[in-house]
Amino acid sequence: MTLDEFLAATAALASTARTHVSAADTPAALEAARTELLGRKSGRLTELMRALPDLPADARRDAGAAVNRLKTAVETALEERRAALASQAPATPALDRTMPARHAWRGAKHPVTLVVEEIVEIFRELSFTVATGPEAEHDWYNFGALNFPPEHPAMDLHDTLYLGPNAVLRTHTSPVQVRTLQSYPPPIRILAPGNAFRRDFFDASHAPVFMQIEGMAVDEGVSFVDLKATLTHFATRFFGKTETRFRPSYFPFTEPSAEMDVRCTICGGAGCAACKGTGWMEILGSGMIHPAVLESAGVDAERYTGWAFGMGPGRIADLRYGIPDIRLLYDSDVRFLEQFAT
Ligand code: PHE
Repeated sequence: MTLDEFLAATAALASTARTHVSAADTPAALEAARTELLGRKSGRLTELMRALPDLPADARRDAGAAVNRLKTAVETALEERRAALASQAPATPALDRTMPARHAWRGAKHPVTLVVEEIVEIFRELSFTVATGPEAEHDWYNFGALNFPPEHPAMDLHDTLYLGPNAVLRTHTSPVQVRTLQSYPPPIRILAPGNAFRRDFFDASHAPVFMQIEGMAVDEGVSFVDLKATLTHFATRFFGKTETRFRPSYFPFTEPSAEMDVRCTICGGAGCAACKGTGWMEILGSGMIHPAVLESAGVDAERYTGWAFGMGPGRIADLRYGIPDIRLLYDSDVRFLEQFAT
């Protein structure tokens, strides 16, 4: 190769280098151009330099100077292009305004929990405390101590979930009455929220497991007037201005017994599907604790009297929030539950 040929090749590469560097429009493309031109193994400039020793001795100096100038020029061009690309690059990734927003689920207390807490609070102001008992219960606490006669239909396999010969899943929270009476001397005022179990189909208004709140007050001289006054006070506190009525009823463990109704919260008393046209909704069962129950728990029924009630906070949540199907309370569907976020 002659000096002229070498200088021509250098000039040609200078022009190729300019085009390649200015065509690189991303950092990756620029890096590819750098390798193509200056790469140690097979860069075009590196190859040109390898040709130097083949030149005549007197040509090498000028040729070397030319290729070094080219190298510096290419390095400068690469650096300038890199800086230009960096200043164009957006600071943050492009914002896609059409992307669907991510839904931020809000945690919420379950409607039944909200109702239980509110009811407990109302009774707490009347100096009731919270008591508990086991869900797997001895049948004596669930039935026998509560004055159920031995052949009572509630004890049928059809209605009760038996765990063993004398063990049941409690069918109501009333066994907590007996356990509390055994453990503490009167005066007693307790509220016992908890799960109860019955062999039921699962449909819009029945579930095999449901919550109940038991209430009980036992002292000397406690009367039906106390029961009525306390439960009426509760209904007004919970539902606001409402009417209540007590209807005679029957439970083995209370005598007399009464169910309490409030004015239908849906129609206000005019009659609708929710109250089956009656204008009233039953919210609890109650009564004066049967002396046999006090006695079976070891309480002197000559000296003490008491009243008790049991209500279903699930049903009360339905009334309060207009929930049409109790299965919604069991589904754990966050779209339903989120509506109760505060
Ligand atoms: N245990 C009754 C039930 O489950 C409710 C009740 C409790 C009634 C206390 C009277 C007194 O239906």
